Amino acid sequence: MCRHLAYLGPPVTLARLLTEPAHSLYEQSWRPARQRHGTVNADGFGVGWYPDRADTTEGDPGLPRPARYRRAVPVWADANFPELARTITSRTVLAAVRSATAGTTQDESAAAPFRDGRWLFSHNGAVPDWTRLPTDLTAAEALALETHSDSAVLWAMIVRRLRRGEPPAGALAAVVRQVGAARPTARLNLLLTDGHTITATAWGDTLWYRTGPGTVLVASEPDDTPGDWREAPDRSLLLATTAGVRIIPLRAPDPSPKGPRPMTDHGFTLDDRLPADHFTTTLHADVRDGLGSTPRTLSPKWFYDQRGSDLFEQITRLPEYYLTRAEQEILTRRAPEIATLTRATTLIELGSGSSRKTRLLLDALTAAGTLRRYAPLDVSAPALEAAGAAIHLDYPGLTVSATVADFESDLAPSLPDEPGPRLLAFLGSTIGNFDERQRRAFYRTLSRALSGDDVLLLGADLVKEPETLVRAYDDAAGVTAAFNRNVLHVLNRELGADFDPDLFDHVARWDPEFERIEMRLRARAPQTVKIPDLDLTLDLAAGEDLRTELSCKFRRDTLTAELARGGLTVRHWWTDPAARFALLMAVPN
Ligand code: SAH
Ligand code: AVI
Repeated sequence: MCRHLAYLGPPVTLARLLTEPAHSLYEQSWRPARQRHGTVNADGFGVGWYPDRADTTEGDPGLPRPARYRRAVPVWADANFPELARTITSRTVLAAVRSATAGTTQDESAAAPFRDGRWLFSHNGAVPDWTRLPTDLTAAEALALETHSDSAVLWAMIVRRLRRGEPPAGALAAVVRQVGAARPTARLNLLLTDGHTITATAWGDTLWYRTGPGTVLVASEPDDTPGDWREAPDRSLLLATTAGVRIIPLRAPDPSPKGPRPMTDHGFTLDDRLPADHFTTTLHADVRDGLGSTPRTLSPKWFYDQRGSDLFEQITRLPEYYLTRAEQEILTRRAPEIATLTRATTLIELGSGSSRKTRLLLDALTAAGTLRRYAPLDVSAPALEAAGAAIHLDYPGLTVSATVADFESDLAPSLPDEPGPRLLAFLGSTIGNFDERQRRAFYRTLSRALSGDDVLLLGADLVKEPETLVRAYDDAAGVTAAFNRNVLHVLNRELGADFDPDLFDHVARWDPEFERIEMRLRARAPQTVKIPDLDLTLDLAAGEDLRTELSCKFRRDTLTAELARGGLTVRHWWTDPAARFALLMAVPN
């Protein structure tokens, strides 16, 4: 086995990360504390780092090409390393100390990190009988292996996926699934970075992580630096950026009675359709217009960076937030009927987030034998990447084509043009985050995009007593308040603004006229906020509000009528037993 580590954060010296801490990676080379196999890691070591001003990688303009230093000797036997470690500084580092798998090359070419373009990779583990591992590598790819080892074979399998544009999570998950199916005792702790993200798997050995402000460290085992180290469970995929860490369970592949699984793979792709200027021009214009209007508003789509998506997931589990559970109840009862009624071959989902409830539809449609493709679309790339990788892993045979796009402005060109019937799901009552004018435009776009036997499945929260509604948007644990304030963190990060989120109260109020919850951030005291990227100074009086979200609630008759005006006929209307939430099926008329 080996020990490895990856870091993202403010610039640090290699020594600060690798040799100085008590029980550092350096010490773990001769005295690993938690390693499950082997004793010492003395068969070489390597470090990769991203220079700040780098030569850019070929084919990846603008992205830095990492540098590497690798040796075939134990790290403690390299007299030059301490000097390098003291003087090399980087914001991203991947390092490993090696314990070689039997039959592999012993020179430095076999020491991690492996590299391809902007990517650095390490494998901690071993693949039994690896020279006969069935892979889908071409002869040319096999001949181009950098070295003769199980890790190099895994890396080549991953590289071919990365090169064809698969996201790192999908690539690692797919390779673990393939190799895990063919070699059930393989140990596959993989670690991958592109300088901005870390993707790792825990599969047979330990994996830990620690986060701090703007910092993340992922390592086979913790060093003794004080801090909150957490362990990722075995059989999981870890996705990390400096904004946070997300863990997804990796299910073991079903053992096939007929020998190893075929190496065919239906793939997971993530197509980023957001315009290159999404976080510049679009965000700038949106925030400038919104903050300059009366009332001052911010679009809810800016809530959903990685932390916002995580907080929304937490909201869905709150006792007060009944929406998700109510919709799940309906889906649990009705998914088989929906599958029979639609016989959908493609499931498109808008604002898919974690896709957790969607699994009920995926289960029913795969059981019906019709579904070929799942096409989630969301503005949040981290949410799509995590959900797509997990679904790809859990539904073998299903093609997962994810699209990062804004469903408000880029819907029609971003919908997959697949042979139907297509089922287009828009769950969670996200439709309620549109005002009436936005809904009108949205229905019109949808009714034009849907054809013949395509069907819309729409989740809508229903009007009910205001206390229940207000509680759902102002929970006792304060998670919704944190979600609301997160938009200010996004503006601080993306626009260099200096909002102090703690100077704003979270407000959720019921508007009986428009039958909607309005979420607001209310200035606690008079304050001046600078937004340098917009050249804007915002003077807020005490008690002044920024409206951050509308959450409209619906009635059957008015929702049916507005859909009809938008070109969509409601065919089925289902509610949960307590009639809190509705799921409807509509077709273009
Ligand atoms: N459908 C899930 C998630 C709902 S949260 C559920 O029912 O639980 C709303 C989702 O819509 C988030 O994942 C968010 O990233 C996405 N979203 C919000 N505005 C969007 C926009 N303009 N375009 C695309 N996705 C958007
Ligand atoms: C995504 N959307 C439907 C949620 C809602 O209920 O309006 C977002 C949310 N806002 C606060 N809590 C949840």
